[in-house]
Amino acid sequence: MSANETHVEKHAKPEISEQPLLQVEDLHLRFGGLNALSGVSFNVKKGHIQAIIGPNGAGKTCILNCICRFYQPYRGRVVFEGKDISKVATHRVAELGIARSFQNIELFKGMTVLDNIKLGHHVHMKTGFFIRRHLLGKAKRRRCGFAPRSKSAS
Ligand SMILES: Nc1ncnc2c1ncn2[C@@H]1O[C@H](COP(=O)(O)OP(=O)(O)OP(=O)(O)O)[C@@H](O)[C@H]1O
Ligand SMILES: [Mg+2]
Repeated sequence: MSANETHVEKHAKPEISEQPLLQVEDLHLRFGGLNALSGVSFNVKKGHIQAIIGPNGAGKTCILNCICRFYQPYRGRVVFEGKDISKVATHRVAELGIARSFQNIELFKGMTVLDNIKLGHHVHMKTGFFIRRHLLGKAKRRRCGFAPRSKSAS
């Protein structure tokens, strides 16, 4: 996908800020001799919903993979909330508030839908592993708002 092939649909919601929440600048990504991305740039403002559209193989998933740091572009950068995240470790990106879903959905079959969803919250829990593992004290209270708050309900 090149800069002039990128189609970004914008739907403004009432809350609009001028400072972009996400800045994608001049992304270049290559797999061997294949140029998957050649100079892709766009901004997303807070309160906006944008879609990337294009034919199969155009590079849509590659853009998302560069934003969530799954792929490392050889040129360009991604700025989130004013911070260049191009060097942030992949496992730290979710902590910043960037999340994605995948084309091929992979669920833990032995777990409920709710437990599958709750798995995505552990990166935001500030407690240590042991406390988190056994859902003690603060960890139990902070369990992403899914846990009943009153003593009688828990
Ligand atoms: N890990 C990879 N290794 C080699 N080539 C890759 C890799 N990931 C993507 N590509 C290639 O990069 C190009 C863009 O792929 P991408 O998956 O981003 O397209 P897409 O727009 O998401 O397509 P689709 O609509 O089919 O989901 C394709 O030619 C694809 O084969
Ligand atoms: Mg895709």
